Amino acid sequence: MELIEDLTLLRRRLRTWRQAGERIALVPTMGNLHRGHLRLVQEARAYAPRTVASIFVNPMQFGPQEDFAAYPRTQARDRELLEAEGTDLLFAPEVATVYPRPPEEQTRIEVPRLSTMLCGASRPGHFVGVATVVCKLFNMVQPDLAVFGEKDFQQLLVIRRMTEDLCLPVTILGVPTVREPDGLALSSRNGYLLPEERARAPALYRALRQAADGLKAGLGPDEVQHQAIQALEKAGLVPDYVSVRRADDLAEPGPADTDLVILGAAQLGKARLIDNLRVTRVL
Ligand code: PAF
Repeated sequence: MELIEDLTLLRRRLRTWRQAGERIALVPTMGNLHRGHLRLVQEARAYAPRTVASIFVNPMQFGPQEDFAAYPRTQARDRELLEAEGTDLLFAPEVATVYPRPPEEQTRIEVPRLSTMLCGASRPGHFVGVATVVCKLFNMVQPDLAVFGEKDFQQLLVIRRMTEDLCLPVTILGVPTVREPDGLALSSRNGYLLPEERARAPALYRALRQAADGLKAGLGPDEVQHQAIQALEKAGLVPDYVSVRRADDLAEPGPADTDLVILGAAQLGKARLIDNLRVTRVL
C-alpha cells in the first residue's frame, strides 16, 4: 500500500489508474480504525479495482470544546490494518493541504435543515465541517464511489444530499453498522469509555431496540422516545436525544410514513455515543 500525503503526487498516481480504465473507491476516515472501517474497505474493494482510504482528523468538524486535540491518532497501526485489507493507497494529508487558508476564510459547504437538527443541534457547525471536508476529498481523489458507515446515519444523509445538490459524479454507498456482541456500535470514541462505562454503553442500542419494538407494536413516536430516554437515564447515560424520523430525509414522520429510523445520542463519561435503527412500520 502506498502512502501519499501530497496532493500533486496523489493526482499523478490516480491519473495512471484512471488512464488504465480502473474505477476508484474512496473510504474517508479520521483514523483510529476498527472493524467497522475495515468493513467499509471490504465493501469498497467489492465495487472497484482500486481502493483509496483517507485518514484526516478534520478540525472543521470539531467544536471548540470538543476532542480534536485528544482524538486518537494511530497511523502506524491504521496503515497495517489497511494494508492487510488490500487497500491500494492511503491518502493522509496535512491540515495545510486540506485547508490552505485560515478557518475564517475557508469556503464552506452547508446542507440546510439536515445539518442543524439532532446531532447538528448539539454540535453546531459539525456537519458543515463534514460536508466541506468530504467535498474536498471527493475533489482531490475524484472517486467513482465513496463508502460510509450507516452508524453515522445523519452524516450519511448530509453527504448524499451534498453530493446530489452539487452534482458530484460519485456514488455513495452506505454500509450497515458493525456491532460488538452485546450490541454496542463500533466507534473510534468507544476507546474513551472506562471499563465500568463500557459495561453500561450497550444501553443505547437496547433503548433503540425497545423503541423499535414499541413502534412495531403500534405505539407512537412520542411514547417510544420518552421510554427510551427514561431507559438511558436509568442506565446512567446522559441522553441528548432519541428521535423517530423518516429514513429518507429525517423529517418528523406522519401517520402514513412506514420507512423510519430511530436515532439516539447520549453522553457516557468522555464518550458521545450515537446509534440508530431502521424500522419498517406496518400500518
Ligand atoms: O465519519 C468520519 O470518520 C468523518 O466524519 C469523515 C466522514 C471521514 C469526515 O471527516
